[in-house]
Amino acid sequence: MTALHLPVGAPWRVEQADCMAFLGTLPSGRVDVITTDPAYSGMNQHMSFGHGRIVGRYGDAANQRWFTEFQDDADTFLLFLRECHRVLADGGHIYVMFDSFSLLSLGHLMREVFAVKNVIVWDKVNLGMGHYFRRRHETIVFATKGHRRLSRRDLPDVWAIKRIHRGAYPTQKPVALFNRMLSGSAEPGMTVCDPFVGSGSSAVAALRAGCGFAGCDVDPRAVRLTSERCAAVAGGAADPGERPANVDSAP
Ligand SMILES: C[S@@+](CC[C@H](N)C(=O)[O-])C[C@H]1O[C@@H](n2cnc3c(N)ncnc32)[C@H](O)[C@@H]1O
Repeated sequence: MTALHLPVGAPWRVEQADCMAFLGTLPSGRVDVITTDPAYSGMNQHMSFGHGRIVGRYGDAANQRWFTEFQDDADTFLLFLRECHRVLADGGHIYVMFDSFSLLSLGHLMREVFAVKNVIVWDKVNLGMGHYFRRRHETIVFATKGHRRLSRRDLPDVWAIKRIHRGAYPTQKPVALFNRMLSGSAEPGMTVCDPFVGSGSSAVAALRAGCGFAGCDVDPRAVRLTSERCAAVAGGAADPGERPANVDSAP
């Protein structure tokens, strides 16, 4: 495993930190795969429907936003991508999720830093919200630092995986989605990083793939949930963050 200050016997490290501060603590060239789902600014507004109501469990009076948004103007997003590039090993793979809005405003910046290989569609199977066409997909841009092929050649670029309803965390993504990202990119002993870890689904997928994991989130609820899930999965127990019905296997 690439050395990344991961604790012995617990090949994961999750901290409450800003993504840039956290990435800054990582040595250069030691991460093999980044799988991440940033909190784009505007996401909270786009998730606010009907009468301005925030959809989700955290939309109470004490917390009108789902979570802190990342300042994602083009300059800041580029700095973030360059930091991802620095921590990735040569031949490293990166998967960045974009909703329809951020794909148009920020997605093209991936090409300034990485070699973009695919734009993958996540088909969430069930209809979501939307004032015009109802949203049913998100996008994942797959890119590399240098040259390393996927280990498999049978992977399609449309992934039908049911979204999570009423998850333990807002915008929680299925572990199966991260399984797919890792299925051609990760091998046991590699190190996976997610600097916007949220509920920790990316961490669970990494540990199940036999990888080490390093991640962070600014939200203490996210760090708590991710740590609980990592401890359970690393100890061989069931994932407390996702019902088995949500779990499917990578193609
Ligand atoms: C879209 S959610 C990630 C959801 C995650 N993929 C999951 O499956 O649960 C984005 C996360 O980024 C976090 N976040 C927002 N700004 C951040 C920042 N500057 N640095 C690190 N995390 C941040 C939010 O707290 C939120 O948990």
